[in-house]
Amino acid sequence: MTRSMKNSSEQKKGRKRKYIPGLAQLHFKPPYDWTKEEAARLYETALDTIKLSPYSVNEIAYEDCLVGMQQMPPESVDLVIADPPFGIDFSRIGSQYNRKKAYVAEGYAEISRESYPEFTEQWIGLLKRIMKPTASAYIVSGWTNLGDVLNALKKAGLTLVNHIIWKYQFGVFTKRKFVTSHYHILFVVKDEKKYFFNKFEYYPEDVWYIPREYMPGQEKNKTKLPNELVKKCINFSTKPGDVVFDPFMGNATTALCAKGLYRHYFGFEINKNLQPLHKKLLSSINPGKDYVPLKTYLPTVEELLQKYPHLKKYVTTDKTIKDFLEE
Ligand SMILES: C[S@@+](CC[C@H](N)C(=O)[O-])C[C@H]1O[C@@H](n2cnc3c(N)ncnc32)[C@H](O)[C@@H]1O
Repeated sequence: MTRSMKNSSEQKKGRKRKYIPGLAQLHFKPPYDWTKEEAARLYETALDTIKLSPYSVNEIAYEDCLVGMQQMPPESVDLVIADPPFGIDFSRIGSQYNRKKAYVAEGYAEISRESYPEFTEQWIGLLKRIMKPTASAYIVSGWTNLGDVLNALKKAGLTLVNHIIWKYQFGVFTKRKFVTSHYHILFVVKDEKKYFFNKFEYYPEDVWYIPREYMPGQEKNKTKLPNELVKKCINFSTKPGDVVFDPFMGNATTALCAKGLYRHYFGFEINKNLQPLHKKLLSSINPGKDYVPLKTYLPTVEELLQKYPHLKKYVTTDKTIKDFLEE
């Protein structure tokens, strides 16, 4: 009896398949996955179709993104990762963040609190035109600016799919209020029906615990997203060879992660002082350096059995999972 025949006869009898916790995870596979060779080939061949004129792919342009984004061709990017300036006076709180000045690049461009709503509306308003119909965007925001970002997204006609909380391991010490130790990441799309989403985790939750990276003695911009966080966005929302765009490159985290995962990148950074650092960092890695097929991120059978010991009988006997499902 085939599975569909079986299902319909079960339905007739009103019987339901018994729910076994964890069982579906044992045979879960990412919808799309690529070997390293396939990913490398997609990375190379995509170059023939990418259109970014007057800019070039795999470039960081040192200019204001508000001007630059207007020059970009329409429908030219597959993913946006944007971590805009905060709209606070960072120099005032620099010492609390325990950052040694000598390692921090000069010229970080901040936006005043007063002009933040307008600035946010402007750059978010330029996103939709440059996104492909299949594209999505991850926008990082602190809670103080969240209202401005949400208003701008609505005005821009982008669809909010998830509101992710990024929880990190420490925040600035406080005396009369709670310590802020999270950021908001708004996952938005241009077309709800067409956006690409490779659900490579069985149960991808909207709270991400990802520690900030500790980089003692390394040259950097004032803020940096963890590579793990940026890679997660790239893996969920792009294919090898796709173009990842970042309007606020900062330390070039997006560019480095994209290159390491066989994705192409493009973006803006207004602070020209960062150019030598970017050059050094980007020339130090080869395309695909961090690439592994997505199935590598899945828990192993041993790990699943530790969590769900009752599944042992389905993997240790000669009765395979498939047999069980057909039963
Ligand atoms: C929060 S940081 C980005 C950090 C980055 N995500 C990383 O992981 O390193 C924001 C960056 O945007 C830059 N910036 C501010 N206004 C800009 C503008 N109008 N156009 C382009 N870059 C801008 C700042 O100089 C700063 O480097």
